[in-house]
This record gives sequence, structure tokens and C-alpha cells, in this order.
Amino acid sequence: MSFGAQAAVVEHTFHVGNKIVNRLCEERTIVAVNNKFPGPFIKVHEGDTVIVHVVNSSPYNITIHWHGVFQLLTPWADGPSYITQCPISPGHSYTYKFKIVDQEGTLWWHAHVSWLRATVYGGLIIHPRLGRSYPFPKPHKEVPILLGEWWNANVVDVESVGLALGVPPNNSDAFTINARPGDLYPCSKKHTYKLKVVQGETYLLRIVNAALNNQLFFSVAGHSLTVVAADAGYTKPYKTDVLVLAPGHTTDVLLVADAPPARYYMAARAYISAVVPSFDNTITTGIIEYEGASSKSTPTLPPLPAFNDTPTAHKFYTSLKSLEPHKVPLTVDESMFVTVGLGFYDCLANGTCKIAASMNNASFEFPSKTSLLQAHFDGAAAGIYTADFPDTPPTVFDYTNQTRTLNPGPLIVTERVTKVKRVKFGATVEMVLQNTALVGIENHPIHLHGFNFYVLAQGFGNYNTKEGWRKFNLVDPQVRNTIAVPTGGWAVIRFVANNPGIWLMHCHLDVHLGWGLSMAFEVEDGPTIESKLPPPPVDLPRC
Ligand code: C2O
Repeated sequence: MSFGAQAAVVEHTFHVGNKIVNRLCEERTIVAVNNKFPGPFIKVHEGDTVIVHVVNSSPYNITIHWHGVFQLLTPWADGPSYITQCPISPGHSYTYKFKIVDQEGTLWWHAHVSWLRATVYGGLIIHPRLGRSYPFPKPHKEVPILLGEWWNANVVDVESVGLALGVPPNNSDAFTINARPGDLYPCSKKHTYKLKVVQGETYLLRIVNAALNNQLFFSVAGHSLTVVAADAGYTKPYKTDVLVLAPGHTTDVLLVADAPPARYYMAARAYISAVVPSFDNTITTGIIEYEGASSKSTPTLPPLPAFNDTPTAHKFYTSLKSLEPHKVPLTVDESMFVTVGLGFYDCLANGTCKIAASMNNASFEFPSKTSLLQAHFDGAAAGIYTADFPDTPPTVFDYTNQTRTLNPGPLIVTERVTKVKRVKFGATVEMVLQNTALVGIENHPIHLHGFNFYVLAQGFGNYNTKEGWRKFNLVDPQVRNTIAVPTGGWAVIRFVANNPGIWLMHCHLDVHLGWGLSMAFEVEDGPTIESKLPPPPVDLPRC
């Protein structure tokens, strides 16, 4: 094999169970892995095999998803519940086994059932294989920065209330850096995350947005940051004072400790693309402390953009480019135009409806008796799913027409269905993702399992099929697994379906996932043994 003698096997056991933590002046019980919050880091070299034995001692059903890992010919290890496996029920175990190939940088893992990923998550760090180096000077130290949200309430309850009533649940109670709210929140000062630095040295911050429902701005007082990778792919160095990450995104940045020795805040706060009635606008903080600085001195806060600063977010999202040119396929086999947004279902005679979210007006219903992948493997889709996910929306849509809400028709009242898009092995798929913003004006971070995609273009207004291609970057587009489709705007992505199986695509705001903002690709087997879906592992959980 080309992986060479150096490729190693990295093995972990994840004990999932209850853990008691103190946050925001209260003692709470959360679900955590190996009694750690955030969970353990997985560190590998590209080419390694990862084996994780997940033992579920928690009171909940659990699955773990390895966010951004290609899972080439290992779809049974992908993890989304009822998509590639039935959940691991309390008292049971399952072993995930997969290889990390052709990606370097930072990814992460998280629970993919209910809202448990609020506390069940951790970093997955992929170093270059032995003998290779970073395409940038070796940093003095590597520092994981996991941004998250903290909920005082039990997140499983928050989710089920939101789904049952079909109304948005409350917001989280804090944002966090490495699971700590930071010293601007009550009772949190003592546990503020602290990074000690030496003047003149360079630090590689591996930043993950693990928050459930919020995009986040991030910056460091007195320092600029140089982006070198995103979603485990190297980028051209991009210098900036502020980052924005949608849930699911990872961004690696170099920070040079070149400021006068003192204490500086690193900080994050929500980026919400429009005004919403209530949300947590508090800044979560960590402290960068220079060697020799007084540990009592007051740190300075960085100037973070306003919570609705879309121009700043858009500038960041559109400025990244791949380090090396790519051979983007120029011929498209499957061309899709997909609306993403919120709407309603279950409307009663009195006019009240539940909130639904959908893609091309199909609001995705997760199966409950088996997984889609099992049904696909058994050739038994009947009664579980249909392969008629539409390539186009049910009605012509004009975002720029201000009277659109008078007659949004079938784009707004949706039905709950389980539809997949069937594609041939090796097909090049292009998707225009158009944000409807008919109800709930916000960005939708759309995440694709099993593949990276090229981001060819992004913009505002209606996507113009005639002119869009002129703006495509077919040379060095950023390569991502998650794209924040802007409010009232669109993004065009392209990927090659070179991995047989069932692959979920969904909004990484968990509240929208539960409401149905999701679909799946069914990639057929190819002609060779390397392109056929292998049978499930013997310990795969059954429903
Ligand atoms: Cu990071 Cu389907 O999720």
C-alpha cells in the first residue's frame, strides 16, 4: 500500500457517561467522554488508521460523528444516527474504524444524536505524515481552541420541547472557549482559559466552532491572525484581525507573540446575520498571558464586530483560497438548485403551524426503525426512503422581490419526507444553495458528510444561472465540508461523488437539523471492488 510503513494505528476508548460540572454558579450533570469536557483529543498523522471503541454508560442513545473525515469505503463509521447506523443504546458499545487520508489540519468529533453534541465533542488533529512538514514555519506550540455554547438546561429536554411545540427553544446561557465561559460571565473568572506565551514565538491556534446554533466571531486583542488552513485543507496565508466560524467550521491560524509583554483577551461572540429578539450577546473570553507579564494586570478586549456585521463575515468567508491549485472538474453530471430555509408544516384550520426547515421544500424526516445506509445496503428502501429528492425548488423564487412573502406558496408550507438524491459513483455534483430567508433571516451552515467540496462562488440576492459561472473560482477555490450560505444569498459548490453509501447533508445549526433542514445523497456502487459499499461491521448497533 502507498501509506508506507510509517502509518500507525491510533486507538482510543471513549467511555460516554454522566459528569458533574460547575458552570455559571450552578452544579450540573452533563454527558461527557472519559469524564472530560471538552472530550479527549485525537491526534493522528495523515495516513493513520483510527480505532475508537465507544462504550455507552450514559442514560441516552449515542453515536459519534467524525466531522469532516472522508470515510472512504467506511460509511458505517460515519456516525449520524439513523443515517449510517442505529444509535448505541445505553449499556452497549460500537467500534468506529477508519483511515485518515489526504487531509491535514484540524477536524473534530461530536455526538450525532439529539443535541448531545453540546457537551460530547472534541478535537481531531491531523499532522502531516512522518517525514513531511507544514507548508508554514513550524510553530513553537499548537493550541486547540474549541468554541462552544453552554446550556444550563438539559439539552435533550431543550430539543424535545422545541420539536414538540415547533417553536424555537431558548438560547444557550453562555458561549465558551475550551468549555469555559470566561471572566465576563458570573462565577466563571477562576476557570477562564489561559494561554501562556513567550514573546517572539509563533503559536498555531486550531480553532473549532462546536457551538450548537451560533456562528461566532473570534479575535485576539493586539494581535492579527494568519489563517493557514480551514476544514483540514491548507489555505493561502490570509492575514486578518477577525475570524468568523459557522458551527462545524475549523480554522487554523498562526499567532505571532509580537506585542509588548502583557495580558490580552482572546474573545468570541455570536454573529447573527439579522436582528433576533433575544440571544446571548456576551463575549466569551480567554487570556493570552506573556511570560513576564503581571498575572494581575487587566487584559484588553479586542474590538469584535457587531453581532449583525454581515459585511465583515462575508469578507472573511470569501477571502480564503486553497494553498495549491486544484483540478476542479469542469463537466457537471448532476446540476442541482437547492433552496435552504425555514417554513411551516402541520398548519391547523385556525392558522397556527409548526416550524419546519427544508431543502427544496422537502423537510427531512429521520427514519426510526433502521438506518438509511442499512436499507440501501439491503436493497430495502421501500417504506424507509424515496430517491426523488428534487433537483429544483417547487416554485420560482425571487428573494429580491419585497412582496415575496405575500405569495411564497409552496416554498413556505412544507411536508416531512425522507428523500435522497441518487447519484452514480464518480458523478460530479454541482449545487447552487439559495437561502430563502422567507421565515427566520439567517445564514445556514450547510455541512456535507463524506466529501469535501469546492466553493466556487458566493453572493447575495438571487443566484443568476446565466451569470453565476463568470464568478466561479475554478483555480484555487477553498475546499470545505461546511459552507455558510448567506442570508438572502447563495453559494455554489461542486464535489465528486467518489464514495459509495449514504451521506447526510444538513444545516449545522442543530435547531434547524431537528426541524428538517437536511437531505442525503445515495451514491451507488461503482464497477470495481474499490468502489463498492462493504458490508456492515458485525458490532454495528441495530435498531
Ligand atoms: Cu458535524 Cu452531520 O455533522
